[in-house]
Amino acid sequence: MNNLKILTKNKTPVWFMRQAGRYLPEYRKIRKKEKNFIDLCFNSELAAEISLQPIRRFNFDFIILFSDILVVPYALGQKVDFKESIGPVLKKISCFKDFEFVNVYESIEKLNPVMNTIKILKKEKKNKNLIGFCGGPFTVLTYMFEGGTSKTHGLIKKKIKAEREDFKKLLDFITEISILYLKEQIVNGVDIVKIFESWAGLLSKDDYNDFIIEPNKKIQKAIKESYPKIPLIFFPRESKKEIFNFLERVEPDVLSLDKKIDTKILEIAKKKKIVLQGNLDPLILIDGGKKLEDEVKKIMLQFSKNEHIFNLSHGILPSTPLDNVKKTLEIINKFNEAK
Ligand code: CP3
Repeated sequence: MNNLKILTKNKTPVWFMRQAGRYLPEYRKIRKKEKNFIDLCFNSELAAEISLQPIRRFNFDFIILFSDILVVPYALGQKVDFKESIGPVLKKISCFKDFEFVNVYESIEKLNPVMNTIKILKKEKKNKNLIGFCGGPFTVLTYMFEGGTSKTHGLIKKKIKAEREDFKKLLDFITEISILYLKEQIVNGVDIVKIFESWAGLLSKDDYNDFIIEPNKKIQKAIKESYPKIPLIFFPRESKKEIFNFLERVEPDVLSLDKKIDTKILEIAKKKKIVLQGNLDPLILIDGGKKLEDEVKKIMLQFSKNEHIFNLSHGILPSTPLDNVKKTLEIINKFNEAK
């Protein structure tokens, strides 16, 4: 699979989920310029600058577009706010009818500022690959139903139980707009796309098939049909045993791993030439010290027979010390030099 070459180049490349963000003092400074986080995502100059901040400081191997998965519900007309110390707050939706009069093409146009960010980054990125992204359709819907990050996900679970067909319509709708959105990102210059299905772990086997595998496969198929050379990274977080079905059916180019993995995945990925990405626990990155060193080394050794991109098992946390990031990258570099 030739597209894997641009990903690994005979060494273990590294980037971190949420590598642009509040752990960086330079991000916190720019953050103050826009009160609402969505406005920051839509300020193309600032968003491009933020995307490059972690590259300038740490020379990560990949640039990830600075935006958020919740720009999609926003573009569909849902009210989306980000409140300090709470996180995203959305006006809850309840049925497909809420989107009856939405023109999808007009919605995609509302995301033009993101395309402008990509155009700026395309000029600046030099020899690095630029990652575009969207949320997994189910994950985006959890926020749309719950109105934010939920502990129990009671509303979406109730909806699935009581009105499965209507829920499926919504899922299809979000899947279709996600495909259009990713295609638009590719046209404008991203080299790789990632689908963040952060809440995949909520579902039982049958629901997992209908609400995680089916829509993610639709996205994979649509992108491959139009852009066969663009690698897709999938992150079906906390899928547990279902990860094997996901791998078989969705056929990711890269599988982004959470912290709990069944080591059988290493063998299967090798056989199927799937790149594995992961999986340092962001909490260990915060703690640092010998535990961090041991863990980074353990991961480098564990994946040494696979095509591997070093990354975290979830997003970097705001309290992460910069020195611990530096230390992690130094250890990875030492391994790479010895190759
Ligand atoms: O550097 C990068 O990775 C690119 C930018 C990026 C952000 N969010 C910026 C952000 C990406 C790829 C995301 C993805 C995202 N957003 C996910 C999937 C990954 C995951 O973490 O599971 C999800 C679920 C969201 C939704 C979201 N956005 C939440 C729950 C929150 C609040 C929690 C938090 O970390 O604050 C956000 C806000 C957000 N997205 C921030 C950033 C930098 C912080 C906002 C701020 O600075 O005020």
